[in-house]
Amino acid sequence: MESEVCQFYEKRSVLVTGGTGLIGKCLVYNLLANCPDVGTIYLLLRKKREFSFDQRRERYLNYDIFKNLKTPNLLNKLVFIEGAVDAKNLGLSNDILSKVTAEVSILFHSAASVGLEAGYKGADQAANSNLRGTMNVLELCRSMTNLACLVYVSTATAYHFKSLIEEKIYPVPCTPEQFLSVMESGDAKAIDKFLREDMKMFPNAYTLTKALSENLCQAENSNIPICIVRPPIVSSSVATPVPGWTNKMQAFNAMILLWVMGLSRCLTWDPDTRIEVAPVDYVCNVMITAAWFTGQKRPVDTVPVYNVVPSEDNSVTWRKLLEYSLDVVFESPSIKAIRWPGRQMISPKTPFKLLYSIIFQHIIFAIFSDLFLICTGSSPQICALMIKMVNTIKSVRWFLTKDWHYINTNYLALTDHLNEHDRKLFPMSMKNMDWKSYIHTGYYGIRKFVLHEDDDNTKAAIGRLRRLTMITNGAVIFAFLMIISTCFILVLFL
Ligand SMILES: NC(=O)c1ccc[n+]([C@@H]2O[C@H](COP(=O)([O-])OP(=O)(O)OC[C@H]3O[C@@H](n4cnc5c(N)ncnc54)[C@H](OP(=O)(O)O)[C@@H]3O)[C@@H](O)[C@H]2O)c1
Repeated sequence: MESEVCQFYEKRSVLVTGGTGLIGKCLVYNLLANCPDVGTIYLLLRKKREFSFDQRRERYLNYDIFKNLKTPNLLNKLVFIEGAVDAKNLGLSNDILSKVTAEVSILFHSAASVGLEAGYKGADQAANSNLRGTMNVLELCRSMTNLACLVYVSTATAYHFKSLIEEKIYPVPCTPEQFLSVMESGDAKAIDKFLREDMKMFPNAYTLTKALSENLCQAENSNIPICIVRPPIVSSSVATPVPGWTNKMQAFNAMILLWVMGLSRCLTWDPDTRIEVAPVDYVCNVMITAAWFTGQKRPVDTVPVYNVVPSEDNSVTWRKLLEYSLDVVFESPSIKAIRWPGRQMISPKTPFKLLYSIIFQHIIFAIFSDLFLICTGSSPQICALMIKMVNTIKSVRWFLTKDWHYINTNYLALTDHLNEHDRKLFPMSMKNMDWKSYIHTGYYGIRKFVLHEDDDNTKAAIGRLRRLTMITNGAVIFAFLMIISTCFILVLFL
């Protein structure tokens, strides 16, 4: 049996925005590895900070992920084009623009600014990269002569003001133009007020711009073949390029890392909240096959939406995440940890324990650790890390305390549309996901790909953490004795 999906991609040119991101890299890998007969893959790349376009292209080709390709020659299919989604025509030169509009058959629009801060902070990037970016991509699509499908990568969090989220596009109480005109005013106070008060149903500009972009896609449905893929929190891969692959610390991974590094021992969370998470390779497989399916099925009345979320009968909670992680994390801790991770994560359900943990396990611990670092001639860093941690937790707090219900019928049905061969080539179903084993593999993935640690440093890491525990316990006993003796001296002399 042949792969119908691969046949669809044969000799078709693809354009990817956001190709350097977590999803983008895995998407490009999966396309090359599974559909080797795909045509040219155009990758939109911008110059960034100290890196020129050429330097970024070199770095891209040397990314570890592509070392897993069985046929490295496939990388010759990648054509890097300089531009940015927030520029008109994506900032493409005229030559490239005419090539792209004539050739490209599938466009994956994954570029976005994914900062989750509330209010003014990061709102300009969200407005430019997410909203203007989608406007520019849609405009480009209108001039494309060969387009079979635009896959817009949205987010399952776009309508978090609803408790039941269907595979539908919901209206937003402002237009893209209204939001952009507030942003153009440049008035920080007015922007902050608009986001925190007028648009308070959205936790941040990120989700607002994603929802507005979905509405823009809906408005273009009769002109452009579009589908929307909505991933939840995207985490390490199940299988491709290798089990546990990831490349960044974000939301889910960040929460695990903060705990693994010994930084956070308490959280303002509800441990029984379900985690909406999906493996990065499954998300990419949904994108690849949704493009194939949309490309075949046009025209349709509404934009097909795929909520790539686990079904409630097989999902995982934050409590389970910790429980499943305990054995691997204690068996193989990180050599970069500042102390052993807590065996439990204290929550507001036990307020006294929470207060104790905040004061003693975080504030006093951080101050003493930095004093120790200063005394030993090193620069203090633990207080700064704790402050960073608090800001990270603040930006994802809304995830940690509430459950949402999702309808994921289109996502589940996508597997059924695939033939047997494609089902094996593009696994994406979380129906029978073994979360414990996924979390174990994910932990080793974070250790390897984010912390860049070898498996054989486990002994050294355990030894280091034991020494650190002795030092911190010693410091606490010393501080305690100092306080007692000061009190004793005061009582004796007063
Ligand atoms: N990761 C998740 O947990 C998650 C969850 C739900 C939805 N999503 C959605 O999935 C998509 C990809 O997410 P990700 O995690 O892969 O993001 P990521 O790792 O942060 O990567 C973002 C990508 O967007 C590109 N980009 C941002 N602004 C751009 C601009 N103005 N012009 C050109 N490129 C620009 C970045 O390019 P540079 O390298 O040049 O910065 C990068 O390639 C996003 O649309 C996001 O909203 C992600």
